[in-house]
Amino acid sequence: MKLFEDQCLLITGGTGSLGKVLIRKLLSGEMGNPKKIIVFSRDEAKQHFMRLEYQNRMAATDEIIYRNFLQKLEFRIGDIRNYGSVTSVLPGVDIVINTAAMKQVPTCEYSPYEAVSTNVLGAENIVRAIQEHNLPVKTVVGVSTDKACKPVNVMGMTKAIQERIFVQANMRCPRTRFICTRYGNVLASRGSVIPLFLDQIRKGGPITITTPEMTRFLLSLEDAVTLVIDAIQAAAPGETWVPHVQSSLVLNIAKALMGDRDIKIIFTGIRPGEKVHEIMISEEEVSRTIERGNHYVIVPMLPEVTGDKPLKPARTKEYSSAEKIMSLEETIQLLKSRKLMLEDLNPYEAETLR
Ligand SMILES: NC(=O)c1ccc[n+]([C@@H]2O[C@H](COP(=O)([O-])OP(=O)(O)OC[C@H]3O[C@@H](n4cnc5c(N)ncnc54)[C@H](OP(=O)(O)O)[C@@H]3O)[C@@H](O)[C@H]2O)c1
Repeated sequence: MKLFEDQCLLITGGTGSLGKVLIRKLLSGEMGNPKKIIVFSRDEAKQHFMRLEYQNRMAATDEIIYRNFLQKLEFRIGDIRNYGSVTSVLPGVDIVINTAAMKQVPTCEYSPYEAVSTNVLGAENIVRAIQEHNLPVKTVVGVSTDKACKPVNVMGMTKAIQERIFVQANMRCPRTRFICTRYGNVLASRGSVIPLFLDQIRKGGPITITTPEMTRFLLSLEDAVTLVIDAIQAAAPGETWVPHVQSSLVLNIAKALMGDRDIKIIFTGIRPGEKVHEIMISEEEVSRTIERGNHYVIVPMLPEVTGDKPLKPARTKEYSSAEKIMSLEETIQLLKSRKLMLEDLNPYEAETLR
């Protein structure tokens, strides 16, 4: 049977960048026709516009994949921090994908407890609701970030704790498989450097960059969705799935987007809580990192979750964004292939990337 056939999925943060692309993919039916997809988030305006997007598609282009979509989508307003609202949305759910998060490094730095509330207590609420109500949820996926690896900022620290909560949850709720994905910067997601640079270029500059040597892992939303789906398909309890992914100098991303426009670049210096290079898999994790298909898999450190299987580590050193940096030409090709150059985007698309 196909993976999502007749399944009820809960996407916390379903109105976000990842949630929207994930939901479109799920509704395509490629991996089976879900029974229901619940979009759970706080802001009614985002849900309203998402509902309208589907309504308009159905009326205008009548693309086959949009047929019956609105019957399958259920929009639920709720806050992952609130145990009551998490408990009320979970009954009947087979698969939870927890994308709801506070993900901006500076915001989390200035409001650390808010980040703890969403990223840590929110995750705990999901586990607690499943445990206390003995719910037959099959799978819960935590969506984590490279910043959770050897974290230096509040955002990363809270995401690291979220990973650990989901790993240990396999002991608390043995009927449910809790797994994680961990990945780097998503090209053009809301709040990322690409919309920022595009905005600065449209205004004629300057482009602001922290330091010339800063590197970041880059992947597309589609790659992130594939990672999540592959993990749901094959991850064992407690595993964290990490993609093989390219990295680039942030400076080269700016240069690629600028093309031959005459725009000034200003180096503003590294901000508190930022690393020059990100790490996807730490030195400490290497000994329990294996490879499956196109992905690295970090096996949990709790023996109660892992069992006693011998491991064949896939790497000998940490996985850093400084390891294999794309050239400027390769960065240009990547952005072009993802249609993220200024000339590829109409004003509406450029605006909605913000
Ligand atoms: N974007 C990246 O570069 C990147 C990289 C690595 C990992 N990730 C991870 O991927 C996940 C998705 O990121 P994204 O880029 O899609 O984020 P996003 O566009 O900011 O979306 C976040 C979603 O979460 C919802 N949300 C936030 N707080 C919530 C709460 N307390 N209760 C319920 N819903 C809440 C938001 O809607 P409301 O505001 O309406 O509640 C929104 O739907 C996050 O966990 C993030 O950490 C992202």
